[in-house]
Amino acid sequence: MRRTIIAGNWKMNKDHIEGAALAREIAAGLARTPPSCDVVLIPPFTSLPAVTEAIRGSIAKAGAQDISAEDEGAFTGEISGRMLRALGCAYVLVGHSERRHIVGEGAELLARKLRAALRSGLAPVYCVGELLGERESGAAGEVVSRQIREGCEGLAPEEFSRVVVAYEPVWAIGTGRTATPKDASDMHGSIRRLIGTLFGAAAAAETPLLYGGSVKPESAPGLLADPEIDGLLVGGASLASDSFLAIVPR
Ligand code: PGA
Repeated sequence: MRRTIIAGNWKMNKDHIEGAALAREIAAGLARTPPSCDVVLIPPFTSLPAVTEAIRGSIAKAGAQDISAEDEGAFTGEISGRMLRALGCAYVLVGHSERRHIVGEGAELLARKLRAALRSGLAPVYCVGELLGERESGAAGEVVSRQIREGCEGLAPEEFSRVVVAYEPVWAIGTGRTATPKDASDMHGSIRRLIGTLFGAAAAAETPLLYGGSVKPESAPGLLADPEIDGLLVGGASLASDSFLAIVPR
């Protein structure tokens, strides 16, 4: 049985005071009606200490939005996996489309970040997804397979067993346009087949594949009902406790 994971990516929203308040509301909501899945809050770095404190004792876990490819040393502005673990983080996003396309992080750097996450004991949530033009030209499948290979090829199957994959079509992120459950499901199916080729049948059966891109309380049940969709990576709708809690299955 694959785990279901609902993760809220707060992006560059919520300072540590606002973040603690939101995390407390979410933790209280989850305590009232326990979820039937894993729940992960992914605030900005500066809010992580306050958020991990606020969710202490709750079922919710914390994740970071980014990680250094290096473990320690003269890397001004970077945050290491060990620092994130010390705060109690369990997950870290690697290769979110905003880091690929706005910050300009490339395949080689992202492969190193993914390995840094694994070295430090974090579960990387490796994000992949095609641009609108790539979908329209029929290249979506090829782009996503390339991203999976670039990030994950060469990992030992036991290393890959800690990787979570998030398929987020870039044209669906923050645009209000969600992929249909069928589009997401088809892509998840091809990602799963590729994982089978690279890491074997057990990895293909066990890797959680999340969908992300304008997920809202209205669209979440249809997506989660699809057997290929094991969870959701939620941006905008994770910034208020009522909409985020409405997405979490109970
Ligand atoms: P969105 O963001 O839900 O606001 O589209 C999703 C994401 O970028 O992870």
